[in-house]
Amino acid sequence: MQDHILTAFLVVSLLFACIPPAKSADLNSDKQALLAFAASLPHGRKLNWSSAAPVCTSWVGVTCTPDNSRVQTLRLPAVGLFGPLPSDTLGKLDALEVLSLRSNRITVDLPPEVGSIPSLHSLYLQHNNLSGIIPTSLTSTLTFLDLSYNTFDGEIPLRVQNLTQLTALLLQNNSLSGPIPDLQLPKLRHLNLSNNNLSGPIPPSLQRFPANSFLGNAFLCGFPLQPCPGTAPSPSPSPTSPSPGKAKKGFWKRIRTGVIIALAAAGGVLLLILIVLLLICIFKRKKSTEPTTASSSKGKTVAGGRGENPKEEYSSGVQEAERNKLVFFEGCSYNFDLEDLLRASAEVLGKGSYGTTYKAVLEDGTTVVVKRLKEVVVGKKDFEQQMEIVGRVGQHQNVVPLRAYYYSKDEKLLVYDYIPSGSLAVVLHGNKATGKAPLDWETRVKISLGVARGIAHLHAEGGGKFIHGNLKSSNILLSQNLDGCVSEFGLAQLMTIPPAPARLVGYRAPEVLETKKPTQKSDVYSFGVLVLEMLTGKAPLRSPGREDSIEHLPRWVQSVVREEWTAEVFDVDLLRHPNIEDEMVQMLQVAMACVAAPPDQRPKMDEVIRRIVEIRNSYSGSRTPPEEKQKDESAAP
Ligand SMILES: *[C@@H]1O[C@H](CO)[C@@H](O)[C@H](O)[C@H]1NC(C)=O
Ligand SMILES: *[C@@H]1O[C@H](CO)[C@@H](O)[C@H](O)[C@H]1NC(C)=O
Ligand SMILES: *[C@@H]1O[C@H](CO)[C@@H](O)[C@H](O)[C@H]1NC(C)=O
Ligand SMILES: *[C@@H]1O[C@H](CO)[C@@H](O)[C@H](O)[C@H]1NC(C)=O
Ligand SMILES: *[C@@H]1O[C@H](CO)[C@@H](O)[C@H](O)[C@H]1NC(C)=O
Ligand SMILES: *[C@@H]1O[C@H](CO)[C@@H](O)[C@H](O)[C@H]1NC(C)=O
Repeated sequence: MQDHILTAFLVVSLLFACIPPAKSADLNSDKQALLAFAASLPHGRKLNWSSAAPVCTSWVGVTCTPDNSRVQTLRLPAVGLFGPLPSDTLGKLDALEVLSLRSNRITVDLPPEVGSIPSLHSLYLQHNNLSGIIPTSLTSTLTFLDLSYNTFDGEIPLRVQNLTQLTALLLQNNSLSGPIPDLQLPKLRHLNLSNNNLSGPIPPSLQRFPANSFLGNAFLCGFPLQPCPGTAPSPSPSPTSPSPGKAKKGFWKRIRTGVIIALAAAGGVLLLILIVLLLICIFKRKKSTEPTTASSSKGKTVAGGRGENPKEEYSSGVQEAERNKLVFFEGCSYNFDLEDLLRASAEVLGKGSYGTTYKAVLEDGTTVVVKRLKEVVVGKKDFEQQMEIVGRVGQHQNVVPLRAYYYSKDEKLLVYDYIPSGSLAVVLHGNKATGKAPLDWETRVKISLGVARGIAHLHAEGGGKFIHGNLKSSNILLSQNLDGCVSEFGLAQLMTIPPAPARLVGYRAPEVLETKKPTQKSDVYSFGVLVLEMLTGKAPLRSPGREDSIEHLPRWVQSVVREEWTAEVFDVDLLRHPNIEDEMVQMLQVAMACVAAPPDQRPKMDEVIRRIVEIRNSYSGSRTPPEEKQKDESAAP
């Protein structure tokens, strides 16, 4: 017995004797390195790294290994770090795995010892002013290397060939020159070498990447760009001159053709399916009730038998006529019928959980949006009643109006105005991909306000019993002057909620995932997610490999904000604008209130509007158009 106790005592004391000193020594050296780093690199915002406070739990931007023995990640994005990286500081953090110093103003070169920290796997230094060459001593554990938007010059080091764990190599917008090394990197998923001065042929190993991984390098050639001069001519005699202008045009042409072919193929298939379905539908109807057509309220022929004898139309009962009518709402100036609609050329705009949306261009040039609903669970009477509500309640400048609908057993169509600017989802996330200017801050606030008003209007109508139930950025359409308009109102009531497709979970309030019953409070939650999406530039979707998507956006934001590391959440595109951070933080607070987990803690939409208007008015009066004031009053119920 005593022996056992003695052994145990010995073991325990041995443990104490060996491990703790080793621990504190290492963490201490990490701490000294960080203090030296902070002391020698000026920074705009205060780093509260006090040597008296524990590094692992209270130093902003720092996290440690699970046993708190070493510093594991250092994230200091957009804190105004300014000047050259001091040598002999960060390099000492030799257990560091993640280093993010993105969006600062770090200059001069990258000390080689930073890139060669043995355990480093992610290095984010984009959006700085680093120059010089990329160090050749990069550590082989790197999986993510982002040095984009700096002024690195020289060649891409051959060392990169040996970084076999690399999944992302982002070097766009630097001044790199020379050839691209043959990178046989099986795990590489994201590559961007655009906007440098690279030259020569694109190595075969990288030809699987799209052209926009290579754009803006005037002397680069080979697939997916223009063929190289002197190589076997491609089937289409293309100009092989390496003049930058011509080369660029070539890229665009190629991309555009590619996109058009892809779209045409996709569109063609869908169009074909649509036509076949409609034909089947028409054929069936013809068979079941021989003379089918009738006249609509506008006295035009509708539906069913094209070119049938008009006399026969009237012999078919009124009931039949009613059944095939395209029902327009009052105050709508459209003048076409179902047949015109079916003849229109259609292009798929999107596929949602409620069905497919088409852009239909009628023969007279009128363009409308047609939504084909699938899996409507209510009967005709309920459907018509609901449509009446939607048509009436949807009369608000921030709600996309329903113009007409069509109901038959086999087909349910809704007709909306066509809004050319597209959806918030496309403009927010798509502009990045297509290189268009990102949405600026004021526009994002304006859109938030418009959407809030649209929702508040819906919530106020009908004695407060209406809900939207399906708010998401692809359902927010942007008018010509970039006002946010809510679409798809009133459809949730016609369908069963689809069993939470992964894409949608991101907008659904936690309680709705369980009860499957959306409420006004869950609309508020979805609105909060929308605002977070605009603040962060990240889509609340599950989308592996896409850096700009986050499965549970509110939870992510909450975790970052909890560490009071608020700047990290904001869209980099926004951080470039000066003096808006306070407003962004205020908007963030509004959004966070909306995504509160307990429904009754979420504000009402009127309250949300009030707070957004306050934020708008608080920033320099000159930025607020005076007309806003009136609208706010009229928006109040
Ligand atoms: C530093 O800031 C973080 C978050 O901003 C906070 O959690 C921590 O307590 C602060 N530490 C000190 C020593 O003030
Ligand atoms: C970046 O650094 C270069 C010199 O290395 C300097 O000329 C330029 O003004 C800097 N740009 C910014 C935005 O600080
Ligand atoms: C890459 O790895 C190979 C084999 O391990 C080695 O011979 C070569 O020197 C390395 N190249 C660089 C640039 O590190
Ligand atoms: C990247 O480079 C392209 C071409 O030079 C330029 O149009 C674009 O504005 C640059 N992007 C940034 C964020 O600097
Ligand atoms: C780009 O590279 C070419 C040679 O490939 C060189 O002649 C030219 O001066 C470089 N341009 C810049 C801006 O560095
Ligand atoms: C690479 O970066 C450029 C410039 O920012 C951008 O236009 C292009 O879409 C990016 N390519 C990829 C594949 O992300």
